[in-house]
Amino acid sequence: METMSTITSRRSIRSYTGESISDSDLQTVLKAANAAPVGMGKYENAHLTVIQDPELLREIEASAAEALGRPGASIFYGAPTYIAVSAKPYGDALGNIDYANTGIIVHSMALAATDLGVGSCYIWGGTMALVANPALVARLNLPEGFVPCGGIVLGVSDETYAPREIPQRIGTDYVG
Ligand SMILES: Cc1cc2nc3c(=O)[nH]c(=O)nc-3n(C[C@H](O)[C@H](O)[C@H](O)COP(=O)(O)O)c2cc1C
Repeated sequence: METMSTITSRRSIRSYTGESISDSDLQTVLKAANAAPVGMGKYENAHLTVIQDPELLREIEASAAEALGRPGASIFYGAPTYIAVSAKPYGDALGNIDYANTGIIVHSMALAATDLGVGSCYIWGGTMALVANPALVARLNLPEGFVPCGGIVLGVSDETYAPREIPQRIGTDYVG
């Protein structure tokens, strides 16, 4: 796809067949994560965890359902892969730059998924579930000092991508 076509085709997919994506597609998505810009080029402050164990996925979903007060909520929509993006905080002077990094890493993966025809959705609920449950975070075996900051589900979907009309929906001023 051309770049703007990929950008306008991307949307949140919330229906999955349950079938896993190919390893080749997964590797392409991970390459896109590594192509994302990060503040000060500190790639060592970001970490990806590919979670495909159905039991662990269900446990994260159960934790999210509890945190959200929505019993039975299926926050991953049946997607068989969740990639948690974790970050090592840079320190107070740089504020929430780790969350800025995480957002762009996730979006880079979403665009690659769109280009491949792989379903994807940014899932904040997964991060909520993890931070609310240190025992689950421990299961990720994150390097010392890393905290889950975001994540994306990936999977095969019957839904398809096509370029969309994008209205101006973000308030924009021209100053000066
Ligand atoms: C930071 C962030 C967190 C999000 N968390 C969730 C989520 O937990 N569950 C969900 O279904 N969608 C989630 N979304 C998807 C948004 O709802 C979606 O991107 C937005 O409504 C625009 O729709 P589109 O992605 O189809 O263009 C999230 C998106 C972002 C950027």
